Amino acid sequence: MVTASAPGKVYLFGEHAVVYGEPAIPCAVERRATVTVEERTDGRLRVDAQDLEIEGFTVEYGTVDGDPGVEVPTELLEAATEYVDGAVEQARDAAGAPGAGFDVAVESDIPLGAGLGSSAAVVVATIAAAAAELGVTLDPREVADRAYRVELEVQNGQASRADTFCSAMGGAVRVEGDDCRTLDAPDLPFVIGYDGGSGNTGELVARVRSLREEYGFAADTVAAIGDVVRAGESVLGGDGDEASLAELGRLMDFDHGLLEALGVSSRSLDEMVWAAREAGAHGAKLTGAGGAGCIVALDETPETETALSYSKSCEQAFRAELAREGVVVS
Ligand code: PMV
Repeated sequence: MVTASAPGKVYLFGEHAVVYGEPAIPCAVERRATVTVEERTDGRLRVDAQDLEIEGFTVEYGTVDGDPGVEVPTELLEAATEYVDGAVEQARDAAGAPGAGFDVAVESDIPLGAGLGSSAAVVVATIAAAAAELGVTLDPREVADRAYRVELEVQNGQASRADTFCSAMGGAVRVEGDDCRTLDAPDLPFVIGYDGGSGNTGELVARVRSLREEYGFAADTVAAIGDVVRAGESVLGGDGDEASLAELGRLMDFDHGLLEALGVSSRSLDEMVWAAREAGAHGAKLTGAGGAGCIVALDETPETETALSYSKSCEQAFRAELAREGVVVS
């Protein structure tokens, strides 16, 4: 039996613009998916998912007698199994064990579909755990690459490397197309506000794409986000003193303004951003596709978390420091 965990992420800078070849800087945060895997001899796969901030469930399926062996609604089955299925397939491939079956137990404290990379964390942890259970230790970069392939397949070719690379490597990373690097970063005191909702990534990306085609100034706005990312990257390389946190916050505010101009924020996201700013955060912005979901603020004091927890748009507020460790097999 092997257990592996992997962190979720926030975008410090660069969502949406990354789709058009600009760099982005996602950061892993201390909210993790934990996956425990045990090989079984009958070649079947049993997935037990609890604490996923949706109702827990158990499904068992396999190819032994051609019977999927499940009686749950299709959507739930898909949500439960597609990512885990793809991840297990990658582990089988890595270990050269195409017929291997497993009991898989998934636990996660990362809100689902809220821009925090929950599916990537589950996929990364499952690949690492299942490969280790088959006797193969995978390098985090290989886990990242295999996890990206799973996301690409499950999401019909719509996936960037940001979530999977960040979850596998931990820390702050820079992603520009297929070029993925880790960055040196100081400790970053992230506070997250979650409005309890989730945006439709495909629709939001399509909206930005058509705005960008229609208006030159929307294309300039996307390019300006790229400039903010490059400015942020040079500040991150510094020593993380109060002045550089203040500058990072200022750039986060700028990035949020540009995303707002592109139409991907919402009243609840804006309200949480303003609650954080008024509480004295260095800066705040939406994270991920937008529409609904999470904002991220920088504040080493308790003020922002307190203000967010009293904000009517915010369903959950929590501190989630930069996670230095990516995927960990124990
Ligand atoms: O909401 P998330 O974490 O899936 O982030 C989406 C980020 C986008 O830049 C909007 C899309 C993408 O594929 O990079």
